[in-house]
Amino acid sequence: MKLLVIGSGGREHALAWRLAQSPRVQKVFVAPGNAGTAQNEHLQNIALTHIDELAAFAKKEGVALTVVGPEAPLAAGIVDAFRAAGLKIFGPTQAAAQLESSKDFAKAFMVRHHIPTGAYRTFTEPEPAKAYISAQGAPIVVKADGLAAGKGVVVATSIDEAHRAVDMMLGQEVLSTAGARVVVEEFLDGEEASFIAMCDGNHVLALATSQDHKRLLDNDQGPNTGGMGAYSPAPIVTPALHNRIMREIILPTVHGMGKDGIPYTGFLYAGLMIGQGPDSSRPVKVLEFNCRMGDPEAQPIMMRVKSELLDVFEKAVAGRLDQADIEWDRRTALGVVMAAHNYPNAPRTGDAIMQLAEDSEDCMVFHAGTRLEEGIIKTSGGRVLCVTALADSVKRAQAAAYGAVQKTHFDGQQYRNDIGWRGLPHGDTST
Ligand code: AMP
Ligand code: GLY
Repeated sequence: MKLLVIGSGGREHALAWRLAQSPRVQKVFVAPGNAGTAQNEHLQNIALTHIDELAAFAKKEGVALTVVGPEAPLAAGIVDAFRAAGLKIFGPTQAAAQLESSKDFAKAFMVRHHIPTGAYRTFTEPEPAKAYISAQGAPIVVKADGLAAGKGVVVATSIDEAHRAVDMMLGQEVLSTAGARVVVEEFLDGEEASFIAMCDGNHVLALATSQDHKRLLDNDQGPNTGGMGAYSPAPIVTPALHNRIMREIILPTVHGMGKDGIPYTGFLYAGLMIGQGPDSSRPVKVLEFNCRMGDPEAQPIMMRVKSELLDVFEKAVAGRLDQADIEWDRRTALGVVMAAHNYPNAPRTGDAIMQLAEDSEDCMVFHAGTRLEEGIIKTSGGRVLCVTALADSVKRAQAAAYGAVQKTHFDGQQYRNDIGWRGLPHGDTST
């Protein structure tokens, strides 16, 4: 059987790598892929990105199932186009992908269906937005309405900063297309966690929990990024909290989308803010929905999959997720992102990757922004690699992942030294 994975990041490398391990899978095409997927004998990169070309390719090759990694093709309607062509694909339709592609759509949806999220207002003009901010006070959060590649959220600590964010997002410069509307949202305090589930329109299968590290620098300092590292499971999501998240957030979302006539199929990622208190009553609110797996969350999550993943995707596209299950490795997987010089602003590309840790059963280097140039692996994007290790505890997984990071090198590399710190026993920061 041939499969197709759409995308070129670490998430797609991890998905394709795990899918290719099924004995029923002959080949996984990755479009467009990266140097990591190019070097795996079971994977094959395809230099296509246009939806029509991808659909034609899938038809010609007899691709049995396509899995979409990033949000852009989903928001552009790849699922609608593949289905119209009679092809099986796992992901949300363009209408359903609005849960990510429009913050205003997502917020209005959550309010309508009583899904807990921060209070908000949407604005198209700067002056009323600024007046609202002044009345609310800081800290306060300003979000561009559309997809903005990680640059659309400003957590402002002063009214001035929030006003400047409004000017930036409703002005002509940086975000002219994405920022035609802004959402101004209540600041939420607490610890973040990523909750990702597979959905088939009716049924839901939760994946293992995970925690991302959004800031560039140690101790959660510096600018927001796409994610500098992740680990799974996230101890903050206890079984009791897991049940509440399913009952209060994930199931109402999937049922709400169904009621609104936009059945949700695909990965549903809820970015959560978990406040203080006992598990039975601590506030859990949705910061954002993504209509895909997280990157880098997917890398540790994929490391922990023990059962056959293809079977789960087949049941998902057949509307039978209620019959699917995933067996998880009980160990912790932890991934450290190695990013390029000057990420996240204007990352430098073209640096040769001089050393790479060897892959093994318990440690994988997933590629993201890499490309092969005359046999040499070079950097080609902001997040370059995600070095991911499995071990018996967060501390051991951390030691194993950082051990492999030490064996990997390219000029200008930057990475955090504290991935997984929230999962360590309280106060234990020794490595
Ligand atoms: P988003 O893309 O909406 O997830 O926002 C990116 C990051 O900004 C989140 O991961 C949080 O760290 C932060 N953030 C977003 N919304 C809020 C909020 N209402 N309160 C506090 N922090 C937030
Ligand atoms: N790691 C966060 C995201 O994928 O959106």
